[in-house]
Amino acid sequence: MYFRKMLGKKCYLSPMDMNDAEKFTGWLNDLEMLSNLHLYSSVINVENEKTLLEKLSKGHNYSIVDADKNEVIGNCGFMGIDNVNQNAEMGIFIGNKDYWNRGYGTEAVALLLDYGFKALNLHNVLIRVYDFNQRARRCCEKVGFREVGIRRKALLRNMERHDIIYLDILASEFYENDDLIRQIQARREK
Ligand SMILES: CC(C)(COP(=O)(O)OP(=O)(O)OC[C@H]1O[C@@H](n2cnc3c(N)ncnc32)[C@H](O)[C@@H]1OP(=O)(O)O)[C@@H](O)C(=O)NCCC(=O)NCCS
Repeated sequence: MYFRKMLGKKCYLSPMDMNDAEKFTGWLNDLEMLSNLHLYSSVINVENEKTLLEKLSKGHNYSIVDADKNEVIGNCGFMGIDNVNQNAEMGIFIGNKDYWNRGYGTEAVALLLDYGFKALNLHNVLIRVYDFNQRARRCCEKVGFREVGIRRKALLRNMERHDIIYLDILASEFYENDDLIRQIQARREK
């Protein structure tokens, strides 16, 4: 069961439903999708995915749900929330590849950031993107993230070394993006 906690035009973010463990397991065994994530070299089966979901669901991690179909398409959330310094790192994946390149990622990131800045009082949010993942980079830059550093050749993927790009965003920068803010508020105002 899903709940419209952060509602946008295309999707909403909901607390996670443990019954989705099997669906998540399918996505996390798709190497094309997984190559963009830290979990690439992990073994994920339904049992350990249930354990992982239970752990994640206790923090600020949310299912991304198609707002028209009420169907889960992925997950996003904050890690390492530092309440003293008001910063956190975020992660996202859309497991259902039919939804890639349709603006769902951009909207989900925006919904999560809006919640992070307003409800969790964050000031700075970081995301790490692998150098070959231009889609993720573009998605984050559309929301207002900017590159702040490169950890050189820190990732070994498919027998090749890659850079890890660090992008961050401040609350003030996020709210400068009027079009995006209007988009994530569109549903709520109806
Ligand atoms: C990364 C991800 C969350 C982005 O979500 P999405 O819904 O596909 O992204 P959006 O459609 O909102 O935006 C993607 C943008 O990248 C662009 N893009 C796609 N492939 C690209 C490429 N090879 N080079 C440059 N830009 C590219 C798209 O055209 C779009 O930009 P536009 O709106 O200006 O045309 C999603 O694709 C995903 O989950 N991928 C697998 C896991 C992953 O990479 N997670 C992120 C780890 S940091």
